[in-house]
Amino acid sequence: MKKKILAMFLTATMALSMFAACSKANSDKKIGVAMPTKDLQRWNQDGANMEKELQDAGYDVDLQYANNDVATQVAQIENMSNGGCKVLVIAAIDGDSLGTVLATAKEKDIPVIAYDRLIMNSDAVSYYATFDNYMVGTKQGEYIVNTLDLDNAAGPFTMEITAGDPGDNNAKFFYNGAMDVLKPYIDSGKIVIPSGQKDFASVATAEWSTEKAQNRMDAIISANYADGTQLDICLCSNDSTAYGVANSLSANYTGNWPIITGQDCDKLNVKNMLDGKQSMSIFKDTRTLAAQVVKMVDAIMKGETPETNDNETYDNGTGVIPSYLCEPVFADASNYKEILIDSGYYTEADLA
Ligand code: BGC
Repeated sequence: MKKKILAMFLTATMALSMFAACSKANSDKKIGVAMPTKDLQRWNQDGANMEKELQDAGYDVDLQYANNDVATQVAQIENMSNGGCKVLVIAAIDGDSLGTVLATAKEKDIPVIAYDRLIMNSDAVSYYATFDNYMVGTKQGEYIVNTLDLDNAAGPFTMEITAGDPGDNNAKFFYNGAMDVLKPYIDSGKIVIPSGQKDFASVATAEWSTEKAQNRMDAIISANYADGTQLDICLCSNDSTAYGVANSLSANYTGNWPIITGQDCDKLNVKNMLDGKQSMSIFKDTRTLAAQVVKMVDAIMKGETPETNDNETYDNGTGVIPSYLCEPVFADASNYKEILIDSGYYTEADLA
């Protein structure tokens, strides 16, 4: 009997010490992942992919979503730094609001990877991984040029622009990429903008909000297109804003349906593409980005230097941040099967 009790005691002690060793090992491998919001489909995919890939690589993950609220995101990052995370991966809500909390992370020697969106004016940012944001914009612009054959068609064509959140460093890259392609046609009068709203500040959409994009478009239509004026082009920087613009057109606009651009291939927008309500989107495979960031994390954790492929474009105000840019891919109703279904990103049922 005594022997049995002793054996049980020994087993329990061994189990306890193994558990302690394990949780120490785990806290040595904890990675914090801060995402902006669950409201937009892509961030759910980004978060889920990061979590899975990091776990597969043997890491523990503290994944948090901040409901697009800056104070919440700051608190989450603070908890991650204090909670023993060894690396922080952050998709910022407002690129300019993390300076103070990241200064604390830097004091603790916690490397920071800016995920998709650059974190501005903080010298705590070690690396940046994203898609080529300028190229997203040029692809949208080139699509418009080619679809309307702007080099040969007489025109003029009418256009309205909807851009992204001014607090998101990506938003200007998308806008500049598209405008660099379209500017010559605007300057020559082949493209006209009846609302007159053209510079980034007047076309930006706070929080990339569908509702705000829709409300703004309602006002533009009633002021400029209610008399039957044809609208040919809606340059929208991403899918959440394109969705709002399409909603507004459905409710208020009676002319021929314009070209509408987008980005992300969100399910609702792919459905709109299949219904002819959105012309194109840009596919940014979040699996590719997550895989690249996991490689970065792994390299940092092993004391190696992560792979980067762009060391000049992204200056966050404290200097150029070594970056890895993934390539965005053009998507429309003609190739969605190949790039979205055959690649296993969505099922047909997702889009039904
Ligand atoms: C991302 C886009 C996304 C937008 C709104 C940007 O920073 O790069 O993919 O559509 O944020 O969430």
